[in-house]
Amino acid sequence: MSTNALYTDLSAYYDLMCADIDYPAQSHSVRRLHQLFGTAGRNHLDLACGTGPHVRHFLDCGYCSAGLDINQPMLDIAQQRCPEAQFSRQDMANFQVAEPQDLITCFLYSIHYNAGLEKLRACLTSVHAALAEGGVFCFNAVDKHKIDNRSFVRHSVEHDGSLFAFGSGWYYSGEGERQALRLSIEKTTAGQTQAWQDEHPMVALSFAELQVLLEPHFEVQVFEHDYERITPWAGASGNALFVCVKR
Ligand SMILES: C[S@@+](CC[C@H](N)C(=O)[O-])C[C@H]1O[C@@H](n2cnc3c(N)ncnc32)[C@H](O)[C@@H]1O
Repeated sequence: MSTNALYTDLSAYYDLMCADIDYPAQSHSVRRLHQLFGTAGRNHLDLACGTGPHVRHFLDCGYCSAGLDINQPMLDIAQQRCPEAQFSRQDMANFQVAEPQDLITCFLYSIHYNAGLEKLRACLTSVHAALAEGGVFCFNAVDKHKIDNRSFVRHSVEHDGSLFAFGSGWYYSGEGERQALRLSIEKTTAGQTQAWQDEHPMVALSFAELQVLLEPHFEVQVFEHDYERITPWAGASGNALFVCVKR
């Protein structure tokens, strides 16, 4: 199966794969962070928006929310979910906006889809240029040194007469700026199983390296990866939420 098939040929399965993600809690938490660190402006852009679940929540909370993604099949589903929103097919490493944004988000570790450190740098430059004065960029990230290659999360869902089993895990070789997200999908219908494996190349970096990239553009606050409560990052966990206010 080709790289990133989950976002093209298998895009119809994406929402099933994410059935156990608490999108309302994630969106609510980021709205609270925006209230605390941002302005009252309501222009919002979600990078790597996928099928648009966060855009839906921000629209419902009164934001003028839009999304961008590099894969059209994901955008087609997002547009059905959010008919009133604007979606554009763009690479987050080099994107344009029609108006300055008050809040830019990037959920589910998608910032790592920037293919290499140069692209990540370019993405941060694009975000900085797209933000209004006092605008906030909020995303989550994983520290390459804290990746446990043995950890593979699995869950299953029944849907439309089939049983779907999904698995996902990070892989980092221990060297360099490349990590991978490994995914597996199995669909069992009337005793017949179809299986797909997907491997997504992603940029790998430590939180210390990430902070160095962010510093010239933003005032950076780092929080524990907990969407239920806002707690400063204690320095131990390998997942964290970055809240970056435009300098
Ligand atoms: C893990 S999904 C996350 C989708 C959504 N943010 C969510 O939380 O459900 C990653 C998304 O990143 C998109 N993507 C990958 N590379 C990208 C790039 N360079 N620019 C924009 N989107 C990209 C994929 O098409 C996919 O929709």
